[in-house]
Amino acid sequence: MSKNLYTLIMAAGKGTRMKSALPKVLHKVNGKPVIDYVISASSPFKPEFITLILGHGREMVEKELPSFLPADSPKISFVTQAEQRGTGDAVASAADIFKGKKGDLLILSGDTPLLTAEILREFYKDYKNSGNELSVFTMELDDPTGYGRIVTDNDGHITAIVEHRDADSETLKIKEVNAGIYIGDVQKIFSFLDKLGTDNDQGEYYLPDLVKVFIEENLPVGRFIWPHSSDLMGINTRKELAMADKYLRMRKLDALMDSGVTIYDPDTTYIEEQVMIEPDVTIFPGAVITGKTEIGSGTVIQHYCKIHNVKIGNNTVINSFSHLEDSIIGDECAIGPYARLRPGNKLANKVKIGNFVEAKKTEIGNGSKASHLTYLGDAIIGEGVNIGAGTITCNYDGWLKHKTVIEDGVFVGSNTEIVAPAVIGKGAVIGAGTTVTDDVPQDALAVSRVDQKNIDGWAAKKRKKMNEQVKK
Ligand code: UD1
Ligand code: CA
Repeated sequence: MSKNLYTLIMAAGKGTRMKSALPKVLHKVNGKPVIDYVISASSPFKPEFITLILGHGREMVEKELPSFLPADSPKISFVTQAEQRGTGDAVASAADIFKGKKGDLLILSGDTPLLTAEILREFYKDYKNSGNELSVFTMELDDPTGYGRIVTDNDGHITAIVEHRDADSETLKIKEVNAGIYIGDVQKIFSFLDKLGTDNDQGEYYLPDLVKVFIEENLPVGRFIWPHSSDLMGINTRKELAMADKYLRMRKLDALMDSGVTIYDPDTTYIEEQVMIEPDVTIFPGAVITGKTEIGSGTVIQHYCKIHNVKIGNNTVINSFSHLEDSIIGDECAIGPYARLRPGNKLANKVKIGNFVEAKKTEIGNGSKASHLTYLGDAIIGEGVNIGAGTITCNYDGWLKHKTVIEDGVFVGSNTEIVAPAVIGKGAVIGAGTTVTDDVPQDALAVSRVDQKNIDGWAAKKRKKMNEQVKK
């Protein structure tokens, strides 16, 4: 938005109330770490860089973050707050970075994942129009427990922020609270940080006390009251994590429906933040679609499918109860019901994977079918291949994995085992019940079962004998 807008995100806190070994900001809501939402909300402002204050679990955060950030994310400069001595100290630990910089500093808390760029844009606009030197983002809550209260004078101007634990009974009644988001002149903020004291219940440097400091310095301070309070909730406990997760899940589903995706039962549908779905996809109840899944137009996801990191083409049907992960599926395929794609499959177009078929690291060419009860592992299957019911690629010998190659147009009869490595040549036919242990030449028939023998009358004689025995 402006060259002279800097962003700083405070994320060094221990997150004690989460009772977790994982840093609070790495906990996921609708599939993405809490901190990532805050970074995404500030990215559209195109700040030169985003300053992220880390402390507790810094290495973990630095390691996890890149895999979630959008490609166009601004550069992130990490700052360590060695000891967590409060939000005022957190900002102060970035003083070196902002030496000599001129402009506005937007300060965000790393634990508010419901924040959006639109909300920040409103805040920024209001601040710019107001002429204030510092502005605090506030909201009204029915239950303000735990938040800093906004204290005002008779004219309704903000005079101070009082933390819940420091508030007297009158102050506790105030429902307008600090959302933990601030904007102000970068130089003034840093020059006044050392005026903050620790005379409070936690003995910490409180950033909200800047309000009082600015007022003492006769600088205008304002606030921006956001009407939709739930948008700014901070995550401090597992319960709040669940609430935020639900909110963001619904927000994602709403956005998808607005863009032309049919979702019959949002209450039972889980679609994580990073999932991309084209218009005219239809999703039935109970679908759980996660990770970096992409779904092309016209595709139908039937009831209770679990789909993780799968790229699905157009006009494909994923039938009920299928569990698919880390695979690529082309156009006009039919998968399931009860199909299992483990990682590494690549299915071309018009492929059919039917009931109780499991595939892993297998490539399948156009129009090939494995309709029932089959295991395909480490296989390369050509076009127009028919894999009969009960086929198994024996890809593992107890030590190593081996490849099975089934070339175009092969017909694999039911109940066939293919002991890999093996190559089934183009157009070959494998008789039902065969155990393939050698390569099969092109256009050959491979059969390994014993010839059939019929004994006339055997069954009738046996029945008679056994019935007499049982009667005695
Ligand atoms: C803070 C505000 C409170 C506001 C609330 C909104 C203070 C003193 N209080 O309270 O007025 O209503 O947010 O959600 O600021 N952090 C650090 N270093 C520290 C301490 C905290 O980086 O030493 C970070 C945390 O990781 C977190 C953010 O600052 O992302 C806020 O800290 P938190 O402890 O959650 O503050 P609250 O008690 O929620
Ligand atoms: Ca908080």
